[in-house]
Amino acid sequence: MPNDTGFVPQDARADVLEIALAGLTASPKTLPAMLFYDDEGCRLFYEITRLPEYYLTRTETALLTSIGPALVPDGFGDAVLVEFGGSDETKARILLDRPDSPFKTYVSIDVAAPALTAMRDRLGESHPDLAVVPIVADFMQPLRLPPLGAQRMGFFPGSTIGNLDPAAAIRFLAAARDSLGADAWFLLGADLRKSPKILLPAYNDAAGVTAAFNLNLLRRLNREADANFDLGAFRHEAVWKDGDSRIEMHLISSRDQAVRLGGRTIRFAEAESIHTENSYKHTPDRIVEIAARAGWEMQRIWKDHAGLFGVFLLRGG
Ligand code: AVJ
Repeated sequence: MPNDTGFVPQDARADVLEIALAGLTASPKTLPAMLFYDDEGCRLFYEITRLPEYYLTRTETALLTSIGPALVPDGFGDAVLVEFGGSDETKARILLDRPDSPFKTYVSIDVAAPALTAMRDRLGESHPDLAVVPIVADFMQPLRLPPLGAQRMGFFPGSTIGNLDPAAAIRFLAAARDSLGADAWFLLGADLRKSPKILLPAYNDAAGVTAAFNLNLLRRLNREADANFDLGAFRHEAVWKDGDSRIEMHLISSRDQAVRLGGRTIRFAEAESIHTENSYKHTPDRIVEIAARAGWEMQRIWKDHAGLFGVFLLRGG
């Protein structure tokens, strides 16, 4: 069943049809953001990260690269880096490749088993002295990690936290704190609240890649959920909801239409929407508050000079 987090819960993960049916028979209609990431969706998301309007990835990468010695807490030696949702080690490598890297083990938790295997093989080549521990799991669920030693740092880059509404973000951070155990650290990358003049183009780029990424959801349902969406009869829309401090993505039906989905018929009125994603943009103060409510204390905040993106270092009690 889809839910307020945009993530697909573990029990339903395999069943795209069931997830889609639940979302599209609800009112208003929704589809969870996790459904974006089939092979084509992953490829389109990678293209998004290279767009001139999508400042998030390059800003976070530059920030992580420029963070000085303060990133490594005092007394950190034989440490473990635990990435949540990390089938792509690109961001983790920025930390692992530091000359002062304290990390001897890299644990990566992701639902995508093939991507994790490929990641382990790549790191086995490039970092032969690093212990790599892939864990196939939905990182939204509390999980029992293997014994990891005394020095642990969670890592949640990419502003993935923006997909979670504040209650779900608190639940996730609290579960991560439980999984990591007492006295752990946590490094969080989050896009920040800013003018919609900057935000809207990032989710509605001139080249139409974000539109293709959004519409690819329907192509996926046609393929995997016995649907017959006419991709020409829906259009991409991104809106800024100031009160909720979030970008919303929608697919808007351009006419009255009926669509088949796994033997059912789903009716759309002209201009009716399918809500496909929330991308929250918090102020640093709000992130401090959300972290605190999950039992994390803010140690340090790094922002780029324009204040677009933040990297937050948290410490559990
Ligand atoms: C991967 C959730 C961080 O919200 O910016 C990019 C996904 N959606 N363009 C984001 C996304 C539209 C992205 N996150």
